[in-house]
Amino acid sequence: MLAASIMRLHLLGEIMLKQLTYASRANRVMNIMDMNDILKISRANNAALGITGSLCLHDDMFVQQLEGAVSVVDALYERIVQDPRHRDATVVVMSDIPRRRFDQWSMGLLVEDQDNRYIFDKHSPTGKFAPFTMGVANSRAFFSEIRDHTRWIS
Ligand SMILES: Cc1cc2nc3c(=O)[nH]c(=O)nc-3n(C[C@H](O)[C@H](O)[C@H](O)COP(=O)(O)O)c2cc1C
Repeated sequence: MLAASIMRLHLLGEIMLKQLTYASRANRVMNIMDMNDILKISRANNAALGITGSLCLHDDMFVQQLEGAVSVVDALYERIVQDPRHRDATVVVMSDIPRRRFDQWSMGLLVEDQDNRYIFDKHSPTGKFAPFTMGVANSRAFFSEIRDHTRWIS
């Protein structure tokens, strides 16, 4: 009986996927070594937690999309917002999703460079990257584009 309930909950957890996108501000200039540190721990943890997603850095702003079981995403976000490497974490979009966007990435990374800079500015009403206020439609378009068309630094 209990085993059946746990199995049902487990299946429910797998089915009920959530996507959380937040923006935050780095507390200092982040170099590629700093980003590698974040990526290394993220990829190890996220693979174990069944989390997928993508992390982007532009100027001093992060925008990250996390996907996974509802309670796991919530718990991870609570942990991430405590991290002293950034501040002002603000949820941009949070929604249930039928399937993952970044199913191949335990955590992708996109750091702005000459070639991809236009993507950051493109999905903003003002034409200047503004992750805190990008909203649902721009966030969706931004993450779709970086998944499909960008050279990833990993
Ligand atoms: C911008 C940013 C994004 C992060 N993303 C993740 C992530 O996706 N997964 C993860 O496990 N840790 C992530 N971290 C690191 C966590 O905040 C934390 O340092 C790490 O999970 C280790 O936590 P622990 O020391 O409690 O074990 C991120 C940190 C920052 C600054």
